[in-house]
Amino acid sequence: MMAPWQSIPGETPIDPSGLRPALRKVVHTRAQLNPLEADNIRAAIVKYLADTPNRRRAPFTLPWVLKLHKEMLGRVWSWAGRIRTVELNLGAPAWRIQTDLHELLQDLLAWEASAMPPAEQAARLHYRAVHIHPFENGNGRWARLLANIWLKQHGQPLTIWPEEGITAATSPVRQHYLAALQAADGGDMGPLIDLHNRFAAPPADYLLFGQSRKHVIPYHSG
Ligand SMILES: Nc1ncnc2c1ncn2[C@@H]1O[C@H](COP(=O)(O)OP(=O)(O)OP(=O)(O)O)[C@@H](O)[C@H]1O
Ligand SMILES: [Mg+2]
Repeated sequence: MMAPWQSIPGETPIDPSGLRPALRKVVHTRAQLNPLEADNIRAAIVKYLADTPNRRRAPFTLPWVLKLHKEMLGRVWSWAGRIRTVELNLGAPAWRIQTDLHELLQDLLAWEASAMPPAEQAARLHYRAVHIHPFENGNGRWARLLANIWLKQHGQPLTIWPEEGITAATSPVRQHYLAALQAADGGDMGPLIDLHNRFAAPPADYLLFGQSRKHVIPYHSG
């Protein structure tokens, strides 16, 4: 049997001591945790993607990107929205996270003012955000939502990630997704941009199905 908190490859291990105090006695397994996280995240998705958030509501500043993570996971984890102080086996060293995020947000504005297609801006934002890995956990989901809020704000189709495929260890989607992030580590953004395009869909579809754990988009590799 799998240990209750067993991680899958490419996932940050779970430390139950960070659960909100009210949950510590009732949540003992990944299976109990998943729906709580999903409900919390769904509320943030509705808040930012039900209609187009203007720059006042989604300003892409440092305080706001941290707040977004808190809105996604704050009902479950006490460290939500707080820059981690512990070192992980990936991501920026803790001392550099704030500077790296600041630099990313500056670059984002420069990309916006350039001729770079918004879909590429979103893929780069997604990659850099998850690469910095500012939080103890939830970095992938936070980076994917950040990218989608950016797309929405720029009138682009959203990326409907098949969340079940992304989080299942053996799924071909996850393997492609992690391979695309590794290609980006090597400086090649192509595969991640391709994946964003592959899962591009109109906003209405995203709200209806995007985060529903039952809905998995048929995925054909290659
Ligand atoms: N080599 C890598 N380079 C950049 N990012 C990576 C790499 N390997 C994994 N990641 C990212 O880290 C994420 C896992 O981080 P974390 O557990 O904090 O996020 P999550 O939201 O809980 O998980 P997930 O993204 O799997 O839903 C992976 O999903 C992926 O987005
Ligand atoms: Mg995780």
